[in-house]
Parts: sequence; structure tokens; C-alpha cells
Amino acid sequence: MNHPNRASVVNTASRFQRSALAATLWGFRREFAVCMAFSVLVNLLMLTPSLYMLQVFDRVLVSYSSLTLVAVTLIMLFFFAVMAFAEWARSRLLVRLGVRFDELLGQRVFRASFESSLNQGGRNPARTFADLTNLRQFMTGNGLFAFMDAPWTPIYIVVLFMLHPVLGLLGVVFALLLTALAWLSHRVTQAPVEAALEAGSQVGVYVHGKLRNAEVIEAMGMLGNLRRRWQVRHHRHLALNGRAADASARVLALTKFVRYTLQSLTLAAGALLVIDGELSAGAMIAANVLMGRATQPLDQIVASWKPFLGARQAFRNLDALLADHPAREIASHGVPQGNVRIEHLVATAPGRAQPILKDLTAAFEPGQVIAIVGPSGSGKSTLARALVGIWPQREGRVLVDGEPIEQWNRDELGPFIGYLPQDIELFEGSIAENIARFGELDAQKVIRACERAGVHEMILRFPKGYDTQVGEAGSMLSGGQRQRLGLARAMYGDPRIIVLDEPNSNLDDIGEAALVRAVQDLRQQGCTVFLITHRRGIVGIADRLLVLDDGVITHDGARAEVLAALAAGAPVRFPAAGGAAPQPA
Ligand SMILES: Nc1ncnc2c1ncn2[C@@H]1O[C@H](COP(=O)(O)OP(=O)(O)OP(=O)(O)O)[C@@H](O)[C@H]1O
Ligand SMILES: [Mg+2]
Repeated sequence: MNHPNRASVVNTASRFQRSALAATLWGFRREFAVCMAFSVLVNLLMLTPSLYMLQVFDRVLVSYSSLTLVAVTLIMLFFFAVMAFAEWARSRLLVRLGVRFDELLGQRVFRASFESSLNQGGRNPARTFADLTNLRQFMTGNGLFAFMDAPWTPIYIVVLFMLHPVLGLLGVVFALLLTALAWLSHRVTQAPVEAALEAGSQVGVYVHGKLRNAEVIEAMGMLGNLRRRWQVRHHRHLALNGRAADASARVLALTKFVRYTLQSLTLAAGALLVIDGELSAGAMIAANVLMGRATQPLDQIVASWKPFLGARQAFRNLDALLADHPAREIASHGVPQGNVRIEHLVATAPGRAQPILKDLTAAFEPGQVIAIVGPSGSGKSTLARALVGIWPQREGRVLVDGEPIEQWNRDELGPFIGYLPQDIELFEGSIAENIARFGELDAQKVIRACERAGVHEMILRFPKGYDTQVGEAGSMLSGGQRQRLGLARAMYGDPRIIVLDEPNSNLDDIGEAALVRAVQDLRQQGCTVFLITHRRGIVGIADRLLVLDDGVITHDGARAEVLAALAAGAPVRFPAAGGAAPQPA
């Protein structure tokens, strides 16, 4: 996208040296620091069992003092209570953090994922949200604790050294061994885990995409063929998953073997030292517990390696998404008048190289009804999308009141735009909600829009009137009903610019008459109305006629003049403008 004025668009991400996502995480540094502090406390207090054991063996059992035992036990209980509290507080904090993280990022991810599916035909939004959940769960779960606890391994080892240098050395050796195993685990599991994750989400996308066409599949018996294709993907996923699981299970088993062996060897070493009189029995047992504690974080890291890889992948995906769709702060332009101008507009579909619209220039004024005609594939719907600013132009500009349309704040401009796409999609919800564009329900405004669109009576005949649920993608309505409701949705509020892409393709005579009245009404209100159509009849209400052929404007002018020119130019059929008829002044 090379919008000339992009530089003026403030990119909030660029204020930080780090990426948008990292910046968001950085924003939580204080909370993470508090969590870390709790972790320090928890880990310090985890020395309690060792110390207690040391006291019982070396003090209580030597002095035979039950009073000492009571005192030591009480202290131990107090420490454990504090530890439980710290663990609870740390979990609680992280859960809160997860919710806030989600709130903060959810909105931006929602917007970016929406823009991506708009502009690049892009990533499946479901996967994006799975990524968000994945990252949040990792950040607020055991996975992160494992990493927070890891620095404690050296501290426990220092304590072991204090008990006896031999024990400390053993600790170092064991820790290195386990670290090597963790590294091995990473090497062995990374590729298969990532491949399996990718394959899994591909299966999901495939199934989701096909289910939407269930009727076609059923009617033409395509299920068998599709299932075979699905099976190939599914088996690939299963195989990759199996490989990933095998790899991590092998390493996990090895790690466990090493850890248990180490624990017993520590006891053996301690026993030798006791025999040599270099260590007390209490210290021997305490050393054993300490060794367990020292190696546990490493163990945890191995166990949470898979979630870590998942979270890292999720982080990268989200980061790339947010980098491609930075948050923009766009100045407010107030209420549009409805002047629309296209200047040397070159536009194409996302992901397509050749232009569809080739260098179009025209200006449209409020109160004008512009009929756009042309053969199938000539670029009418593409022009419609460019006019409402949903497909970014390659070159040239689309200006609304002299401002490039991408410089308008979408949330502000949107209510002043009425767009009826060729494939009308209504959303799951009631008729009233759909017409009110899922904003605050204002019954008066909804009814007014429906009356202007001539669908009020039709809606009242539905069993539940305005509360009728339209089903997924409006599936409970007929094609014509959807189209008429789509018109009411386009007319809701006070639109200044209306783009109707073949609004009568499914209409009967009553519907078409209502459409004509609606367009006349809109003209009276001073809207700029674009009316794309294949039908001759409705062109009669237009002031201006614009003929597109193969992405080029072949005619543009007052309706009567263009019709006359079309009639005069021998090779020209209506509405197909085959040859280049002379352009009226
Ligand atoms: N999503 C897309 N990706 C790639 N090419 C597209 C896409 N949508 C449309 N096109 C191409 O752009 C050209 C113009 O399509 P467009 O939908 O604008 O035609 P149209 O004039 O509206 O046709 P119709 O009268 O059939 O609705 C076509 O050649 C089509 O192949
Ligand atoms: Mg079209």
C-alpha cells in the first residue's frame, strides 16, 4: 500500500523501539516484577522442608527436646502458610494480568485480524484468536512459572556447596546434565511440534471452509471427494502430531530416568560423607531434598517446552499481524458532505497482480444518482469497493470531500456510508439489529430506515416482526428478502454516500418499485447514490450513466446523452459497451 499521506498517519508502534506486541508485554513489566518477587519468596520458602529436616535430625533427635520440636514445627507451619499465600497471590496476579492483556490486545488483534482478512484474503481470524489465547495461557500459567523458577537452580546449588563441596559439585554436574537434556529436547522436538501445530490449524481451516458450502456438497454428492482430501490433511496432521509426541516423550522419559537416578546418587554420596564423618545425617537428608529442588525447575522447563514453542509461534504470528496493521490515530473530519472524487484510480483485488480498474478519473456530487453499468467482470463491484474504501487503491486516490478516504476515521465515516454488496451478508442476529448495524437499537431510526427502503410491511409479516432472527449469514431469509433488508441497512441513519451493487438482482416487481422510491428519496436527501446494475429499467432513475468496460470508463455523462451515444455507436449493446463509442463532453 502506498498511500501518499501514510507518513502523516501516526504509527503508535513506531514510538517504541520494540514491536507493538513486545511493547504491550513491556507495559506489564511492573506486574511481572511483582510476580517475580513472589517467586523469589516462594523459592526461598521452599528451603523450609530442608531446614526443618536438618533441625529435626540434628537438633531435636540429638537433644530429645519436644519443646524444640514444637517451636521448629510452628516456625515451619508459618513459613508454609506464607508460601501458600505467595503462590496463591502470584497465580491470582497472573490470571488478572491475562485478562488485562487480553483486553488490551484483544481489540487491536481484532481490528488487525479483520483488516488482514479484508486486505490480503489473509489469515483465518480463528487462528489469530487461538494464538492470542495460546500466548495468554502461557504467560499466565505454569509455563511461565517454570521460567521464573529457573534462576533458582544456582542458588540451591550454592546452598549445597555450603553443606559440603562434594554435594555442590554433584549439583553442578546434575544441573549441567539436565540442561543438556533440555537442549536436546529443544533440538528434537522443535521442528515436529511446529509442523504439527501448523498442520493442525490447516485441517481446521479446511473443514471450516468446506462446511460453509454444505448444500452444494450434498446436492452434487461431493462429500466423498472432499472427505478424501480432508483425510490426506488429517492423516498428515496425525502423523506429525505423533512424531512430535514421540520425540518429546522420549526425551521426557530420559530426563525422568536421569533425575530419579540423580536423586538416589545424591543420597549415596551423602551417606558416604556421613560414613566418613564429614556430614551429619540431617544434612544428608536435607541435601537430598535440596537436590530435588535444584533440578525441579529444569524439569519443568523441559515439560513446558512444547507450550513455550506454541506461545513463541503465537507471539511471532501476532507480532507480524500487528506490524502489518499498526494502530492508527486518524484525525476527525466531522460529517461528510458526500462529494466523491476518484483520481487516476488503479485498483485490484488483494493478492492479484494485474489491475482491475485502470486509471479512472471522475467526480460525483451530492444529490446525484450515478448508474454504473458494464459487462460481467468489467470491474463494477471493484469500483464499488474502491468507493467505500475497502480495497486499497494501488495508484491514484479516492477522495471524500477532498480527503483521501483512508484518512477518514472508519468508525466516524462508516455511519455516513450505505453499502449494499453484491453478495449480501446479513449477520446472525435479529432483523432490527442487522438494520441498526449492531449499534445501539433505536426503534424509531430502524423503522424509518425500513419505511424509506419500503420493507416495513414485509418485516411486519414475519412471525416475530423486527425481532425475527435471520440466522447465520441471513440463511433464514430468501435471496430477495436479504437484498431488501440489505437496502434498509444501507439507508439506516443518515448516510451521505450510498453504493448499491446490483440491488435488484433478486427483486420482484414490488421490491424493484420500493427500490426506485428509495433511490428517489435518497436523491432528495442530497445523498450521492451509486447504483450498479445489469437491468435496463432501473437506469431510468439515474441522472448520470457511467459505462465500464474491462476496467476502463468508456462513457460517462448525463443519462440521456450516454444512452443516445450507446444507441448511436453501432457495436454497442446495452449495457455492454463493446467498442469505444465517442465520449460525450
Ligand atoms: N477477490 C478477487 N480476487 C481476484 N480477482 C478478482 C477478485 N474479485 C474480482 N476479481 C476480478 O476482477 C474483475 C472484475 O470483477 P468485478 O467483481 O469488479 O466485476 P463486475 O463488473 O462486478 O462483474 P459482475 O457484473 O459479474 O458482478 C474480474 O475479472 C474478476 O476476475
Ligand atoms: Mg459485480
